[in-house]
Amino acid sequence: MDDRSHGQCSLSRLAIGAAAALVVVSIAATPAASHGGHDDTGVHSNYLVIVRKPYQYDTNVYKNVSSWHASLVASVCDKAKEALEEDPASVTRIIYSYRNVVNGFSARLTTEEVAEMSKMDWFVQAFPEKTYQLLTTHTPQLLGLMGRAGGVWNTSNMGEGIIIGILDDGIYAGHPSLDGRDMKPPPARWNGRCDFNKTVCNNKLIGARSFFESAKWKWKGLRDPLGNGVTFDGESLTEPNNFGAEMRSLVRDVGDGMCTSENVLRAVNVTGKIIICDPGGDLSTEKAKLVRRAGAAGMIVIAPQAFGLVIIPRPHVLPTVQVPFVVGQKIKAYIRTMQSPAATFVFQGTVFNTPQSPMVAPFSSRGPNRRSRGILKPDIIGPGVNVLAGVPKVEDVEEFASNTVMPKFDIKSGTSMAAPHLSGIAALIKNAHPTWSPAAIKSAMMTTADTVDNLQKPMADADGTPATYYAMGAGHVNPQKAMDPGLVYNLTAPDYVPYLCGLGYTDQKVNSIIHPAPPVECAKLPKLEQKDLNYPSITAVVDRTPFVVDITRSVTNVGVASSTYAVEVNVPASVTVEVKPPTLTFKALEEVLSYTITIKSTSGQPSSASTIEGQLKWVSGNYVVRSPILICPGAGTSATAATQPVPQT
Ligand SMILES: *[C@@H]1O[C@H](CO)[C@@H](O)[C@H](O)[C@H]1NC(C)=O
Ligand SMILES: *[C@@H]1O[C@H](CO)[C@@H](O)[C@H](O)[C@H]1NC(C)=O
Ligand SMILES: *[C@@H]1O[C@H](CO)[C@@H](O)[C@H](O)[C@H]1NC(C)=O
Ligand SMILES: *[C@@H]1O[C@H](CO)[C@@H](O)[C@H](O)[C@H]1NC(C)=O
Ligand SMILES: *[C@@H]1O[C@H](CO)[C@@H](O)[C@H](O)[C@H]1NC(C)=O
Repeated sequence: MDDRSHGQCSLSRLAIGAAAALVVVSIAATPAASHGGHDDTGVHSNYLVIVRKPYQYDTNVYKNVSSWHASLVASVCDKAKEALEEDPASVTRIIYSYRNVVNGFSARLTTEEVAEMSKMDWFVQAFPEKTYQLLTTHTPQLLGLMGRAGGVWNTSNMGEGIIIGILDDGIYAGHPSLDGRDMKPPPARWNGRCDFNKTVCNNKLIGARSFFESAKWKWKGLRDPLGNGVTFDGESLTEPNNFGAEMRSLVRDVGDGMCTSENVLRAVNVTGKIIICDPGGDLSTEKAKLVRRAGAAGMIVIAPQAFGLVIIPRPHVLPTVQVPFVVGQKIKAYIRTMQSPAATFVFQGTVFNTPQSPMVAPFSSRGPNRRSRGILKPDIIGPGVNVLAGVPKVEDVEEFASNTVMPKFDIKSGTSMAAPHLSGIAALIKNAHPTWSPAAIKSAMMTTADTVDNLQKPMADADGTPATYYAMGAGHVNPQKAMDPGLVYNLTAPDYVPYLCGLGYTDQKVNSIIHPAPPVECAKLPKLEQKDLNYPSITAVVDRTPFVVDITRSVTNVGVASSTYAVEVNVPASVTVEVKPPTLTFKALEEVLSYTITIKSTSGQPSSASTIEGQLKWVSGNYVVRSPILICPGAGTSATAATQPVPQT
């Protein structure tokens, strides 16, 4: 059974492109000293292994946590043992040792070795490394941060003194966006470190930690001119000044349609013409290179259907207009029906004021929350499409602008663009309200979020239909309102303990997440159901119809000392919602009042397998404190068959 002697302790030195770095986080990790040279075979992958806490090791034998961790690995892996015997300083298999947030390490291991470790008394859990693909204009105005006199940046002193930690895939120190000139020194409580050289961190980028060692290893064995007088809108990252206004022949790729074969392009004879290319195939910037080599004058790139009206403009080596899928189909239909189809590009410069905004991007993270269905996710949405962002260099730009200074900004999309907006707003709120807890700040942002767009229509999803709660959570962040929410749903870290116990986690897992002292024993605690966690959104998971669900919440007055709020509930006819008491009268700030919500299915209205959306608002003269209500099918209904069970072990 145990064939470790065949030497699964192998590694091969192939670098992969992905690199991950994280900035200002509290995990203290120690990069391993060496990677060794043991060329044995077997399929290794990177794992995060959590070990039991509190931990004790013989400090006469092991100088530090890293070398103790190395001995744990050696205890299940022959080659690592040999290496450790030869050179006690060797920590060959370990990539990082962690000791603050978790006690554990990341290491290169085979599945057999992980199985072997799982029998050890120091072992808690091993998580295989996952590689995620990167998805990635005037947002201060869109968000109302600038405004006259009363703008959020003014009322929050630009967030002065608040430290923001960002967990993401890399940072380009030295970029003008990270220039620390005219910034005050970090607050005295700052105790972090800078993994770059000392000259790089400054009063803006006050620290950085990098955790990309594992990415260095790969394992063996794994937008009137269109001929018929019609114009369509598309988007282009660059605006060529020499394209010319003449009509050019418009052709399509007769191969796979995606412009991925230069031979096909040459056979069509695209010289001096405009070619339209379907989505798919290699990177769109690669297509442009093929198309230019084949002699085309311009290219139209059709976006994937799932992207709806969202265009992610890329730099292309020839004049290119990117169009939504629906527009692409119209142009192709035109080509099919005309004898000599023709087109030209008219570049209109930067166009501001998107007609309909905001809307949910097709690639935005969506619910449900598979680990905890009783908590609505996402919480909130924010600007994240085509944001001007600092980059080390713009990919492919050297090909058509070799004599220009490399631009340090590009158009980027994704959570990496939305998260800085949201965390920056949280920092502004923290500056304006230094005593508020993280939960209170989150509540303020969620209960004041917008659910309608600039046209006062329900927030749209990428396909144009109204966005569901699983797409937009509580809605789009509204910083001015979030600065003064009236009431907040507060939570403390200990409040999460009975919630985690209620999810069915083991004592050990709960303790490794929260680190309470002394450690908790779930059996001795009241269990808190997910619905009763004092969260700013309300979710009822129902197993069958008819149903009755009681939910409790408490709200803290952070608005006007003496104030009265009346409840307003909007739900479809298939359910009734009763709130007790229906009014909340506060006499002081920081006063906390509780209420209960009873959600009942209406008789004769079976609504078993679909989700129901509603909302609950606490309304006073000055404030509207809104919570989305989601009623969704639970484990006992077929609609959830595909979701993962609550983690056990
Ligand atoms: C831990 O001890 C090993 C072996 O003595 C040494 O090589 C390594 O640098 C130490 N690491 C830290 C963070 O002190
Ligand atoms: C900020 O607001 C105050 C009044 O609250 C006003 O006096 C000041 O000029 C404003 N500053 C800016 C930069 O708008
Ligand atoms: C520090 O890093 C920056 C950015 O990577 C680089 O420009 C600079 O030359 C480095 N300085 C030293 C002393 O290595
Ligand atoms: C391709 O088309 C261009 C422009 O119509 C023409 O000048 C050229 O001779 C054609 N090439 C071939 C190989 O037919
Ligand atoms: C929320 O709870 C925390 C922890 O108990 C407390 O410090 C804070 O004052 C409470 N209220 C707000 C508005 O954050």
